[in-house]
Amino acid sequence: MQENILKPRGTQDFTIENESLYRALEDFLIQKAYDYGAKRVDVPTFEETRLFVRSVGNSSDIVNKEMFKLDVKGEHDYVLRPEFTASINRMLVENKLYASPDLPLKFSYCGSVFRFERPQAGRFREFHQFGVEFLDNKIDFLTSLDALCLLYRAGQSLLNREVELKINFLGGKQSRDNYRKALKDFYKDKIDCMCEDCKKRYEINVLRILDCKVDSDIEINKNAPKLSSYLIEEDLQAFNHIKEALDFLNINYKVDEKLVRGLDYYTGLVFELYDPLNRELGAIGAGGQYGNLTSEISNINFEGIGFSFGVERLMLSLSEQRKEELLKNVRSGLDYFIVDLRQNKDLIPLEIADILRETSRSVSFPNMNKGLKGDLKMADRLKVKRVIMFDDYNPNKVVIKNMSNREQTVIDMTSSSDIVKYLIESEEK
Ligand code: HAM
Repeated sequence: MQENILKPRGTQDFTIENESLYRALEDFLIQKAYDYGAKRVDVPTFEETRLFVRSVGNSSDIVNKEMFKLDVKGEHDYVLRPEFTASINRMLVENKLYASPDLPLKFSYCGSVFRFERPQAGRFREFHQFGVEFLDNKIDFLTSLDALCLLYRAGQSLLNREVELKINFLGGKQSRDNYRKALKDFYKDKIDCMCEDCKKRYEINVLRILDCKVDSDIEINKNAPKLSSYLIEEDLQAFNHIKEALDFLNINYKVDEKLVRGLDYYTGLVFELYDPLNRELGAIGAGGQYGNLTSEISNINFEGIGFSFGVERLMLSLSEQRKEELLKNVRSGLDYFIVDLRQNKDLIPLEIADILRETSRSVSFPNMNKGLKGDLKMADRLKVKRVIMFDDYNPNKVVIKNMSNREQTVIDMTSSSDIVKYLIESEEK
């Protein structure tokens, strides 16, 4: 006996219902981003490895341990994308979009990303992100706030309940240099007893030690110097300005000084959004500001701010009621179902279906083996509006059954185009 072939660990099949929900979420989020002026773009599913090494960074788990490398006969060094931000910035540079006079540029995107993580609740190896990146020569206060508001408002209106926003401010170069030095001093005599990852982080990006999930390291991190004590005046003011605006807009947030994010490119404001009812899923969306990403991959100096939602985590957080509301906007059911029960069949049903489909009406047939009862039950399950029947009890006639009130109309079998004309004219408005 053949062994069944199963999907790879950490991946998912989106059968009809999940696929519809995914599309509904995607539509909702792309529209929401459009309300903030963001237009949708798309980038390749795989990129050169060095794009992510230079941007997401060597100290991140994503680059260090989780990239799906492609085996393409040694010709190229490609990986499946582990995130979008680096690709969007590459797109900006490669297509010279930075030359646009219309700044900030605002992009939204949605698609699959790949990380070789240990699968668990809300953690997949192939998952989907919806996100935005706002890009400019210099990211200003309004643009930062727009990105943050979009994450919060979209999360809140999708889940239809309060969400939890955590924010922190990593500061510009000078603040981060000061802080890095303080952290290096602090960990100098402790690093030998910390985990292997932290030892590497100590050398490459000491800030990332704060993000360590190993219990004994978490204990050590409790006494680490606080970032806020090392922010220069300008950064402190920028952070205060953001906090005041969030208060003004009634956006609830918590400052979390340990929030440094798992990607190396962040430089200013960073943030994560949680669903308090599904905290075990981790952040449902996260992002922040980056100052040097384009200069790490090109000669262009541009800045950006953005975030990504984990679409699967959103799907897991939605209440049944919210799912139904979102699914209402998705095209479902069928306009027509054609049942031919005659002994001697002809091609008229096929011709009618063909003409109806040309007018964007959806039409399907049951298989030929069922009786009328089975066909009608199937029509109900498929939410068919009208069934068109051909049978030997009504020779040269067509029976049209309205499935909502079960009323039947019998018309003469004329030409297919006349039958379709009648069908369209008699449709319920
Ligand atoms: P990230 O925090 O790595 O950031 O991922 C963003 C979101 O993707 C997370 O908050 C989570 O909802 C979801 N996510 C991450 N890993 C998984 C997984 N294994 N399974 C399911 N969902 C997952 C970024 O990717 C940045 N590019 C965000 C960004 C955009 N920063 C600036 N612009």
